[in-house]
Amino acid sequence: MAGRLDGQVAVITGGSSGIGLACARRFVAEGAVAVLADRNPESLAAATSELGAAIVTELVDVTVEADVERMVARAVSEYGRLDIAVNAAGFGGFGFIVDHPVDEWRAVIDTCLTGVMLSTKHEGRVMRDAGSGVIVNIASINARVPAEGMASYCCAKAGVEMLTRIAAMELGPSGVRVSGIGPGFIDTPLTAFTQIVPAIRDAYVAATPLGRAGQPEDVADAALFLVSDDGRWVSGDTLFVDGASMQKAYPELHKLAGG
Ligand SMILES: NC(=O)c1ccc[n+]([C@@H]2O[C@H](COP(=O)([O-])OP(=O)(O)OC[C@H]3O[C@@H](n4cnc5c(N)ncnc54)[C@H](O)[C@@H]3O)[C@@H](O)[C@H]2O)c1
Repeated sequence: MAGRLDGQVAVITGGSSGIGLACARRFVAEGAVAVLADRNPESLAAATSELGAAIVTELVDVTVEADVERMVARAVSEYGRLDIAVNAAGFGGFGFIVDHPVDEWRAVIDTCLTGVMLSTKHEGRVMRDAGSGVIVNIASINARVPAEGMASYCCAKAGVEMLTRIAAMELGPSGVRVSGIGPGFIDTPLTAFTQIVPAIRDAYVAATPLGRAGQPEDVADAALFLVSDDGRWVSGDTLFVDGASMQKAYPELHKLAGG
């Protein structure tokens, strides 16, 4: 049976872990090939062992423009084109604004916002010149939901949602779609610390009407919809994949962090 992405070429940042890796698995299962980009060489090697001939990897820091250029160039040199991009590299920070070291603020903004801008810039150039393509930027429910102690992350993700809207306007006339996904709480290495502080995970689940933690595959399925032909008239919006948790109050993590 034909795959929904047969012959398509993808680039995925943060592609060797969590949500990015789940997207890679899903896209490859649907017939795509991919460049997985990440700054973690160990997880890139593990992804190569698992996904084999369907992927190549690039050691990339998305805050470094030359790395991002090389990542996009690899898709073209290896596979001849670029059809799909998922920009998932990211991480969070924690600290009240009055106590927040500026270096920690900058690190989160640099990866989560500037990294998505640089990725969209270079992916978008190739797609614009080809006259087609689709970019999915991974934001968060925190693009819209504020949380005490999470100013850098919330501001970065709000920026990603706005960047997605503007990129969709700028690239739409060239046949390129740009969408966002805003996940709620998802079980990935990023949230593995909640195994140590179970009260945090429990609070997230309690604040989720569908009554469980999200899984990376929940996000990958939404990404597949957006990048496939089924999503052909969708651009500029961020799709929240969160079990309806945005409809409830966000857990007060700063009160739970002590366990
Ligand atoms: N897990 C959640 O609950 C959740 C919720 C909402 C949004 N998100 C977002 O989803 C995205 C993926 O997160 P995840 O949960 O899969 O986490 P993860 O830690 O499993 O994966 C993130 C990957 O990004 C890579 N990375 C981080 N900074 C990088 C950089 N500067 N350059 C290149 N690679 C870098 C890491 O090495 C890691 O492999 C992130 O943008 C995150 O903010 C996650």
